[in-house]
Amino acid sequence: MNPRGRFPGVVLVGFMGSGKSSVGKELARRTGAEFVDVDDRIEESAGRAIRAIFAEEGEPAFRERERAALKEVLAVRGRVIATGGGAFQDEGNRKLLKSYAPVVYLEVKPETVLRRLSEDTSRPLLAGGDRENAVRELLGRRTRGYRLADHVISADRGTVQEIAGRIIELLGIREDGCP
Ligand code: ADP
Ligand code: S3P
Repeated sequence: MNPRGRFPGVVLVGFMGSGKSSVGKELARRTGAEFVDVDDRIEESAGRAIRAIFAEEGEPAFRERERAALKEVLAVRGRVIATGGGAFQDEGNRKLLKSYAPVVYLEVKPETVLRRLSEDTSRPLLAGGDRENAVRELLGRRTRGYRLADHVISADRGTVQEIAGRIIELLGIREDGCP
């Protein structure tokens, strides 16, 4: 996977609010790798926010856009990739992501998600209704899929910097990006 001794890339998966974007940026900063947030790519190519895509086109159309964006992002090696919270639930996406680089699941409890996203209005799947129930139900339903990642990191406690440090250690990467 990494014949020239260069940073092999890493993929972060997990529920909304688990820290994929924040930890991904920190990992990229410390390894010198390029950071890509798949949700940002979807918004750029659609020309509007994810909330608007869900509202105007529906979730199945969003998932199509997500699959297409993933393929584009995976065309360049060695990136730190933050996926959207639903991406790794799809078997096809799972195969593609796992063949790209080590996949790390940032595991968090429902309480952590609710606390971190208490002011957030950008996640359509948590909009309106009973947010606590929505988080518990969706996270419960998705946990089995997330655990098919190559590594599981508990991400409830510790700063973004500490969690990034644990991933660097876990993957045996040097901070200059070399393994
Ligand atoms: P995701 O990309 O998984 O949806 P984000 O990186 O956007 O998650 O983080 C969601 C919110 O939680 C942000 O406000 C972020 O600053 C905060 N956050 C993420 N990780 C941590 C952490 N380890 N400790 C405290 N706050 C965090
Ligand atoms: C989703 C998570 C979001 C975004 C979309 C759907 C999900 O990404 O892709 O709102 O299905 O869990 P984050 O995990 O970055 O919030």
